[in-house]
Amino acid sequence: MDVLIVGAAGQLGTELRIRSQLRGYNTTAVDRSQLDISDTTSVNELVTRLKPSVIINAAAYTAVDRAETDVVTAYAVNRDGPLNLAKACANADIPLLHVSTDYVFDGHKLTPYNETDTPNPQGVYGQSKYAGEIAVATTLQKQLTLRVSWVFSATGNNFVRTILRLAKERDELKIVADQTGAPTWAGDIAEVLLTVVDRMNQNNPIPWGLYHYTGSPVTTWHAFAETICDQAFELGMLDKKPIIHPITTAEYPTVAKRPQNSMLDCTHILNELNISQANWNNGLRKVLTTWNG
Ligand SMILES: NC(=O)c1ccc[n+]([C@@H]2O[C@H](COP(=O)([O-])OP(=O)(O)OC[C@H]3O[C@@H](n4cnc5c(N)ncnc54)[C@H](OP(=O)(O)O)[C@@H]3O)[C@@H](O)[C@H]2O)c1
Repeated sequence: MDVLIVGAAGQLGTELRIRSQLRGYNTTAVDRSQLDISDTTSVNELVTRLKPSVIINAAAYTAVDRAETDVVTAYAVNRDGPLNLAKACANADIPLLHVSTDYVFDGHKLTPYNETDTPNPQGVYGQSKYAGEIAVATTLQKQLTLRVSWVFSATGNNFVRTILRLAKERDELKIVADQTGAPTWAGDIAEVLLTVVDRMNQNNPIPWGLYHYTGSPVTTWHAFAETICDQAFELGMLDKKPIIHPITTAEYPTVAKRPQNSMLDCTHILNELNISQANWNNGLRKVLTTWNG
């Protein structure tokens, strides 16, 4: 299998590159400096030259608050980029594995969202990602779009990094406790996507389409912060555990509105692809034990 990974320097891209190479696939992993997915000509040239068997899109504009004022770039990366990739895949008759987000939902539902629920994104990031989902689904039949939530890894800016920094700087933290969702380790997402590649490699049929996948169990940002500090303290990464006060979303205003309920129902991926949710506590432990500041 010749696997092309775009957006390879991000949290998911990094995990995909390592795991794809470990599996022995002929892997080309390009970061933004090597391929800007919003540049149609560059996308077509690279796909024509490499002739990959599959493309995995790990590239995205993920700065949720900045997207509110950087609308043009957010849409260029999150809608036009996936469209370019889907068109190139359609021309080459190869599949695209794409990634989307829980932020396509407004969060008003009281139970986990499933794939048939209607998106209603609250901000530019979610709107641009939803537009990307539609662009891919209407351009290419052999596409798998995986909606994930609350992604963390040992690289990049994420909640784990923020909490570790604040826990070292302060004795007390205030963390939002009324948003519910599930942290998802980038390593687990990479495994899901590469399981699909494995199926392709074994010539097993793939039920293409839209899937939800998150870590387990569901939690809040506040409880996630508590777990990060507990584990980091146990591993000797913190001298002390800060007191973490629960606060409401209203007490922590952000530029972009976040969904109150980010829970994604992952039954469909279990039934169709036999992929079960990983416990994010294990992913967190792996991330912290390989942490290099
Ligand atoms: N992070 C989360 O909490 C979260 C939650 C739900 C869903 N997701 C989705 O999960 C996927 C992976 O996210 P992630 O956390 O791995 O994101 P990430 O760490 O921000 O990585 C995204 C990568 O895309 C690159 N990129 C940006 N614009 C590009 C362009 N025009 N062409 C090529 N590459 C470009 C970025 O490069 P630069 O850094 O150089 O800009 C970055 O390396 C995305 O689809 C995201 O929407 C993420």
